[in-house]
Amino acid sequence: MVSENAIVIKDLRKSFKDVVVLEGIDFVVRRGTVFALLGPNGAGKTTTVRILSTLLPPDSGQITVNGYDVVREGDKVRASIGLSGQFAAVDEYLTGFENLEMMGQLYRLNLAQSRSRSQELLEQFELVDAAARPVKTYSGGMRRRLDLAASLVAKPPILFLDEPTTGLDPRSRLVMWNIIKELVAGGTTILLTTQYLDEADQLADRIVVIDVGKVIAEGSSDELKQQVGGERLELTVAQAADFERACQVIDGEMLHTDPESRTISLVSKQGMKQFKQILDRLDDADIEVEDLSLRRPTLDDVFLALTGHGAVKEADEEGKAVGVDAR
Ligand SMILES: Nc1ncnc2c1ncn2[C@@H]1O[C@H](COP(=O)(O)OP(=O)(O)OP(=O)(O)O)[C@@H](O)[C@H]1O
Ligand SMILES: [Mg+2]
Repeated sequence: MVSENAIVIKDLRKSFKDVVVLEGIDFVVRRGTVFALLGPNGAGKTTTVRILSTLLPPDSGQITVNGYDVVREGDKVRASIGLSGQFAAVDEYLTGFENLEMMGQLYRLNLAQSRSRSQELLEQFELVDAAARPVKTYSGGMRRRLDLAASLVAKPPILFLDEPTTGLDPRSRLVMWNIIKELVAGGTTILLTTQYLDEADQLADRIVVIDVGKVIAEGSSDELKQQVGGERLELTVAQAADFERACQVIDGEMLHTDPESRTISLVSKQGMKQFKQILDRLDDADIEVEDLSLRRPTLDDVFLALTGHGAVKEADEEGKAVGVDAR
């Protein structure tokens, strides 16, 4: 059976004892697209991925992956997916090649198939030079790439990536982004979780924002940006002594003020005209503006507007939640 949607979630609920973690989540992922589950620490991203990949049973809700029910047809779901968890699940003491070869055998490929697939993946993920070294000598970025390669041995049509770039440096992030783009171009459906707004912005066709177990917004990156409307004007007051006064002059339209950097940001639905009036008022009050910029809203602004707080980014060690070993 081939359904148009790769993943369908209806009213998914999950609690751990009396702690409610998912409070009725709904979303649909279309085939051949990248879907981002965006949310801060503890939002419920990993819990959702674990339920989708059958590592954890839902309390209630209807959840299908590749047209199969995650509760009743777990085997078929597992045969349809690849999973790269939040914490790399590769074996430290085996080499990169051995890790992939072992994965091939778990998927019942014969030795020749398993070796050729491993070689192919090592080339695709730029790990050929490190293939014969034990993984414990790998950098964080190399481990992540190997972990992702391991989830692709069986060429699954649907891939779950739980925070694929957390902890990576900017270059390694770009490498990972390119790999993800290539996989999608090849027809794979990808659900990824991220705390990084720019990542969702860059990669995802559709974004669901979750916060404390609830969907708080959904749409394409552009649609989400439209929800908070208008351009942002950021201005820096030249003299610290004028900052308070400037805030009073602008009063009513401020979005964010930071006395330390003497910056004020405003959102406007009337655009340039309104900004000009504000600048005129500051000028009349003899307040000098040192720097001025106009920009379109970012996903960060969206998050702030929706949740009242920014997207927290610090790492949170909750243990090895997800591993490919569960198959
Ligand atoms: N096995 C468990 N037992 C009890 N509570 C749990 C368990 N797993 C997750 N939780 C709780 O559920 C909530 C959501 O956790 P989850 O790991 O899904 O968040 P997350 O969005 O992946 O966060 P992060 O960005 O930190 O990875 C957290 O409050 C967490 O403490
Ligand atoms: Mg997580």
